[in-house]
Amino acid sequence: MAEPTGAYLIRVNGIERRLHTPGSRSLLSVLRDDLALTGAKYGCGKGHCGACTVLVDDQAVRSCTLPLALAHGRSVTTIEGLAPSGGLHPVQQAFLDAQAFQCGYCTPGFIMGVIALLKTTSNPTELEIREGLAGHLCRCGSYPRIIRAVQLAAARMRE
Ligand code: FES
Ligand code: FES
Repeated sequence: MAEPTGAYLIRVNGIERRLHTPGSRSLLSVLRDDLALTGAKYGCGKGHCGACTVLVDDQAVRSCTLPLALAHGRSVTTIEGLAPSGGLHPVQQAFLDAQAFQCGYCTPGFIMGVIALLKTTSNPTELEIREGLAGHLCRCGSYPRIIRAVQLAAARMRE
């Protein structure tokens, strides 16, 4: 039997979006398949890898496990919405400068996780960075350069 279709309203990257679709669908699916925002990636689909991380009301959220119905009325930021003027967010720039990626599949999720981390801890220690990003997986093993990128971004954002 087809799932009931609801009417949901979410604000995505500053734009209100009305969606008529089952509320049990994941936010990730809606972002990628309905709104063509493909920056957030599908990795494990179970909340374990962080590839799908977006901000919901400024909190880092695994969008693969968040049903659309629970995002109703909330504000969602994806990596596409970080720098609406066309430039790069300081965390994006730091990832580039530190060469903190290889294949790049995990990068959007890491960057969203770093932004959430730096909102709560502007000058994190290496341990705090490791703990704050626990659960973000990089299969290419770029962790040392990712930590360097976080330190670089934090220093620049404090200036
Ligand atoms: S795809 Fe969402 S946590 Fe892995
Ligand atoms: S850069 Fe390839 S998975 Fe992280």
